[in-house]
Amino acid sequence: MCGIVGYIGAKNCIPILVGGLRRLEYRGYDSAGIGVLSQGKALVVKSVGKVSVLQDKLDKLSISSSIGIGHTRWATHGVPNETNAHPHVNEKNSLMLIHNGIIENYAALKETLKLAGYVFKSDTDTEVLAHLIDSFLNKGLTLFNSVRAALNEVEGTYGIAVIFENEPDKIVVAKKGSPLVIGIGDNENYIASDVSALVAHTQQVVYLEDGEVVEVYKDKFIAKDVSDKEIVKKVQEITLKLDEISKGGFQHFMLKEIMEQSESICNSMRGRLVPTEGTSKLGGIEEYADRLAQSKRIIISACGTSYHAGLVGEYMFEQFAEIPTEVEYASEFRYRNPIIYPEDTVIFISQSGETADTLAALKESKRRGALCIGICNVVGSSIARESHAGVYIHAGPEIGVASTKAFTSQLIVLSLITLLIARKKRMSLIDGQNVVSEIEHLPEKIESILRLNDGIEKIAEDFKDAKNFLYLGRGYNFPVALEGALKLKEISYIHAEGYPAAEMKHGPIALVDKMMPVVFIAPRDSTYEKILSNIQEVKARHGRIIAIASESDDKINDLVDYTIKVPDTIRMLMPILTVIPLQLLAYHIAVKKGLNVDQPRNLAKSVTVE
Ligand code: AGP
Ligand code: GLU
Repeated sequence: MCGIVGYIGAKNCIPILVGGLRRLEYRGYDSAGIGVLSQGKALVVKSVGKVSVLQDKLDKLSISSSIGIGHTRWATHGVPNETNAHPHVNEKNSLMLIHNGIIENYAALKETLKLAGYVFKSDTDTEVLAHLIDSFLNKGLTLFNSVRAALNEVEGTYGIAVIFENEPDKIVVAKKGSPLVIGIGDNENYIASDVSALVAHTQQVVYLEDGEVVEVYKDKFIAKDVSDKEIVKKVQEITLKLDEISKGGFQHFMLKEIMEQSESICNSMRGRLVPTEGTSKLGGIEEYADRLAQSKRIIISACGTSYHAGLVGEYMFEQFAEIPTEVEYASEFRYRNPIIYPEDTVIFISQSGETADTLAALKESKRRGALCIGICNVVGSSIARESHAGVYIHAGPEIGVASTKAFTSQLIVLSLITLLIARKKRMSLIDGQNVVSEIEHLPEKIESILRLNDGIEKIAEDFKDAKNFLYLGRGYNFPVALEGALKLKEISYIHAEGYPAAEMKHGPIALVDKMMPVVFIAPRDSTYEKILSNIQEVKARHGRIIAIASESDDKINDLVDYTIKVPDTIRMLMPILTVIPLQLLAYHIAVKKGLNVDQPRNLAKSVTVE
């Protein structure tokens, strides 16, 4: 998820590694570290926090080396501290390894390695890899073959770089699911997880493909695929300019984060679906799963976008988990003297894990004896630590103030929790398997929605001068209406309101005239016919209508001014698809108004005050 850099050549690698890590800082990180061979010996320096802290530490040590690797960590397993920061080493301290991604079967591998006598220092999944490679080195294999043998046993995603004292002329790198690129220099080579760390040094790069393992020497590299066949890799020229790539080629973090949602939801579900049993496996709440399933009531407490995710969760839990569910703004909940029973489960949703209101609501619920579960993105954050149990959404760092990919990943995790409870209750195996399969197909459906970006940008052009907006949806898509309105307000400063579509006639309809754009979230589901009537009501009052509709719907086009079609899925997952066009619409309207999309006025990414 975060950054990798590496160098082998004749220069001192320290400034190159630190400079590269700084270039990768835009991705977000919580700790950093480097590993070099200093006078032939492996030497690791790590620190918590910004790369500048690491730099200060290195300045005092005055190390020089011509081979090294560096890492910025965005914790997925284990809190951000110095022990958990990368590089990780083997017991003899002769092998150093950095890793981006998640080793899904790390728990099983760790047990086996412990039985073989390995001692673990960190809580990370990564350290397992260092010891696993070491176990093959001990059998007499070369570094390259040991890395390959270890990766054969690994499930999950990785971009890794490894240095071994006994083979000081190379860095071994490998990739599956996480990006890795080699930068070709003159009698020197670089590695990085992102070309932005390379452009200052070279324009010649080689992109690795999944399954490839490469030995990088200072004057050559040898790439092999899984079947040990040498691969001829193409050297490519980087055409991007420095300022373009600092956000991964996107104009704004928000757009980057919207566009990576097919990938971020994959990370949220990775290793957690059990297709054969039509259920999910959530290590973080395993211990409490039965208590959760037997809860008399679920209360979800959160703020902003996370609150909207909670509202979708309410529909999921009531429909499939068959548990009465309430959703409440954390800020209200904490001061309301809420009635909480020990048989209740309270779920706290927070991207940052630091939102003051949500944290206070959590502390109050704990005091009153409820089971408290956290759904957070930031590992080791306060809410994650204070909860009895939790599920990380693993969406990767979200930097744009307007939350986008965290929302869709929160919905994935809520659907996994729903599946877990529902299968302990009355959901049949076949129905469970159908939900699993629908979840698995979401990434490709998201891809197809993201391809509508240009069309949505054109719609934005027609609406950028609007003063007000209404967003209307029913059932599962009512919270999506609220979220669409929030996105628009936050970044475009256009007044927008979300309503249940049928509620419109009880008041908001008075606002509708030819100046009022109305966005209907109207996929084909059980409320579809009713929504069509609501559309007619707006049309009769000359409102301008944008509809988010099902791909299969050929009737709606004639009723509305603009249609954005999304693929179908089961109702409970539909918000994951219908929200994406609304994120893009808000984004393009704000850009066209010339506003600061990533840091909108008056807002902060993490609201740590009341
Ligand atoms: C979302 O776009 C907002 N910036 C905001 O509403 C946010 O969702 C809210 O502050 C909650 O943050 P959290 O998820 O980090 O707790
Ligand atoms: N899963 C690893 C960890 O938690 C790597 C995280 C990353 O990609 O930075 O340490």
